[in-house]
Amino acid sequence: RNNTEVWKKWPKANLSPNARVVLERRYLKQENDQKCETPEVMFYRVASVIAGAEEKYGKNPQEIEDLTKEFYTVMANLEFMPNSPTLMNAGRDLGQLSACFVLPVGDSMEDIFDALKHAAIIHKSGGGTGFNFSRLRQKNSMVRSTGGVASGPVSFMKVFNAATEAVKQGGTRRGANMGILRIDHPDILEFISCKEDNRDINNFNVSVAVTESFMKAVENDTEYDLIDPHSGKSAGKLPAKQVFAKIVDHAWRNGEPGMIFIDRMNRDNPTPHIGVIEATNPCGEQPLLPNEACNLGSINLKLMAAEKDGKTVIDWERLGYVTRLATRFLDDVIDINQYPLPVIEEMVKGNRKIGLGVMGFADLMILLQTSYISEESTAFAEKIMEFIRTESRIESQRLAKERGTFPNYQGSIYDGKIELRNATLTTVAPTGTISMICGASSGVEPLFAVAYTKTVMDGTALIEVNPLFEDYAHKYGFYSKELMSKIAERGNVFGLPEVPEWVQKVFVTAQEISPEWHIRIQAAFQKYTDNAVSKTINFANTATCEDVAEAFRLAFELGCKGITVYRDGSREQQVLSAGTKE
Ligand code: CDP
Repeated sequence: RNNTEVWKKWPKANLSPNARVVLERRYLKQENDQKCETPEVMFYRVASVIAGAEEKYGKNPQEIEDLTKEFYTVMANLEFMPNSPTLMNAGRDLGQLSACFVLPVGDSMEDIFDALKHAAIIHKSGGGTGFNFSRLRQKNSMVRSTGGVASGPVSFMKVFNAATEAVKQGGTRRGANMGILRIDHPDILEFISCKEDNRDINNFNVSVAVTESFMKAVENDTEYDLIDPHSGKSAGKLPAKQVFAKIVDHAWRNGEPGMIFIDRMNRDNPTPHIGVIEATNPCGEQPLLPNEACNLGSINLKLMAAEKDGKTVIDWERLGYVTRLATRFLDDVIDINQYPLPVIEEMVKGNRKIGLGVMGFADLMILLQTSYISEESTAFAEKIMEFIRTESRIESQRLAKERGTFPNYQGSIYDGKIELRNATLTTVAPTGTISMICGASSGVEPLFAVAYTKTVMDGTALIEVNPLFEDYAHKYGFYSKELMSKIAERGNVFGLPEVPEWVQKVFVTAQEISPEWHIRIQAAFQKYTDNAVSKTINFANTATCEDVAEAFRLAFELGCKGITVYRDGSREQQVLSAGTKE
């Protein structure tokens, strides 16, 4: 079983040059400072370590080798990828495999700085942390032991931010945080504008935890109560509509804060007897209890298409197989994971949450000749996610029979209904890095651009055209070099006479899609997702505050668990820019 050469007979990883660069930079283990492990060795390292977790369930060496081969194959095929920390850390010293953590922040110096220390340890290993700062007493309230005044949640967020900045240098990846404040915290107005000057809190995403009673107060244009976190008593009132407008105004200006619909998250909390959900991970897709962590993994839908009778269709059989195997993989991760703190280990092993999701949805729609902005697309989104949830549950039920339900099962929302090994199964992550490794569109996002110009080191400009578009152009006879550079200049194909109209619809990009359609896709995936869905709601630069307000209301109405907006050009440093003429 310790034959580390066995993978040589297994399929090779079909990685693009770009994907290799991503892997080499951070993911491949380095030997004596120079020689990197190959991607195949990395996939074998991960597969064998995760499969090895099943030794404790009585699997013999041959069974573990067979399972290793299955895990290896879906990764080398780029059909399934666990979240980055698993790829980086499995079988290595750190051994920390989860991307998402939520840490409690209590209202004392000890508690605040404990949380800070724990966050630093988590960031070092590539995990992201979410915090709800609502327990902290408001700014200028009394501190009994010193007779001084409290500095309030926002000032402590700056401390967390500075620590994250410092850890950045030595860690495996840039630490990321989610900062959340309840809408009824007395410092809410300061919080809403805390990222106006982006520098002090640049390692945070910020979101307001909005209650349903607040949304009702906005609708009815009434006031709502602020609550003093220390005494639990009312600390004044604010007009809901004005506070909502302030959130909208700041989101319009630079995309923040986002909103999370905290009551809805708690209605879906599978273990209310264990705790209340108060925060999510940095990108918002994973609501968690305090001191809980979750490991994620994503199925590459781009590779779940098959030819049948001359037509491209979804390969449901393969998707079912990969879903069940990925569920087992993520459940095994829980056992082999090295946790940064005993309290986290206890919480994670009590609930055994996993977050299986997808990437390459936009690519799959293109392969099926379906526009992202069509009724067919939202129908596919629902059908695919429902299928994944069903298959994942079948596997979790099977694992529960073999290994027992998750320990906190009694008293959970599943108690007496369906026996599962995991308190949650599905999450749609952004897949920022792993989609690059897989050469797939990220998460459930549309294409960002059809083609773009990339300036390489020596200053020459290279045109990168989406390979699926190139296929279309050849197949339907409208390919030309001139056309490709024209598209690279503008990023999209909308209104180009050389491109057939139906092809323009299939290759629609993020900026051409109305906020409403972005939200409808998010809501379609959310319908069958236990946790939440990572999605950016894009707006044109010319969008108004009222457009943004409308989007927030729609996300709430359609059952989303949160919303993040981005208006084109509204941040100074836009990481990605479609085309060259932006
Ligand atoms: O693709 P990859 O597995 O690297 O990650 P992702 O799907 O883009 O992000 C999943 C989660 O990883 C995020 O929501 C964060 O919780 C965490 N993350 C982080 O902590 N730091 C980053 N730089 C990126 C992601």
